[in-house]
Amino acid sequence: VYEVIRIYGGKPFTLAEHLQRLERSAEGIKLDLPYSRTVLAVEIEKLVHKSQISEGMIYLQLTRGACSRNHLFPDCATVKPTLLFYVRTLPALPEAKDQPGVTLITMPDERWKRCWIKSIALLPNVLAKNEAISKGGDEALFIEDGLIHECSASNVHAIIDGKLISPPPGPKVLPGITRQVLIRCAREIGLDVVERAFSIDEARRAAELMITSTTREISWVKRWDDQTVATCVGPTTLRLHETFKLAVQQETRTGERASTAPKLAFGCR
Ligand SMILES: Cc1ncc(COP(=O)(O)O)c(C=O)c1O
Repeated sequence: VYEVIRIYGGKPFTLAEHLQRLERSAEGIKLDLPYSRTVLAVEIEKLVHKSQISEGMIYLQLTRGACSRNHLFPDCATVKPTLLFYVRTLPALPEAKDQPGVTLITMPDERWKRCWIKSIALLPNVLAKNEAISKGGDEALFIEDGLIHECSASNVHAIIDGKLISPPPGPKVLPGITRQVLIRCAREIGLDVVERAFSIDEARRAAELMITSTTREISWVKRWDDQTVATCVGPTTLRLHETFKLAVQQETRTGERASTAPKLAFGCR
């Protein structure tokens, strides 16, 4: 199981939430965390501080440990789990209003039914993403039985009838931490949130589509297969992204202190 955590201004963002998800994922594969979440947080913060990285990410991976090949779990009295984490720099993302849109390419969802576990077994995701890229897209959109699940490495959301509609975590949807923050931001700005699956037809008539992940934050969707979804970031996506940036500032104390409401969207440039 693994986690990717963003560093802003030298501080990990939503570290507690990521470690909580790590623990749930580990439980999902019948593995105990080798250290408490508190100890892990302290050690991760120490590494981030030591690295002096300002804008970057932490990659953390926990496996059952090194042992000879066998389908049976190793004996935990002799084989200890392997936990590794490292930090690396990432370019700072452009301002919300300057983010380029993304193109989604529909792919059948060939993944297993425990996608809520953030597992390193990502072969269906990797194959789908590469196929999407080879078709000129940025992300693969997993659809099954007419329902939108999520993308190969991000959650997907729609603005329908003035509400944020977001497929809930479950068999085919990872409980994204950025999704969690997005929902918090939506409630903050008075946007109704409905956590439910939505269909292809609903997505086609959505006012705005967006995808979220730790490394991309919130990206507006400009194309979906051969359909133009939008020619610029939609007003609600932009407002949510501005609010997201304020949440980052508040938690990591980067940039100006967040005290004012986000600026509203201005149409296409
Ligand atoms: C399949 C999948 N869904 C959603 C996400 C978004 O999760 P988060 O916001 O925690 O990065 C990811 C991130 O890697 C992912 O791999």
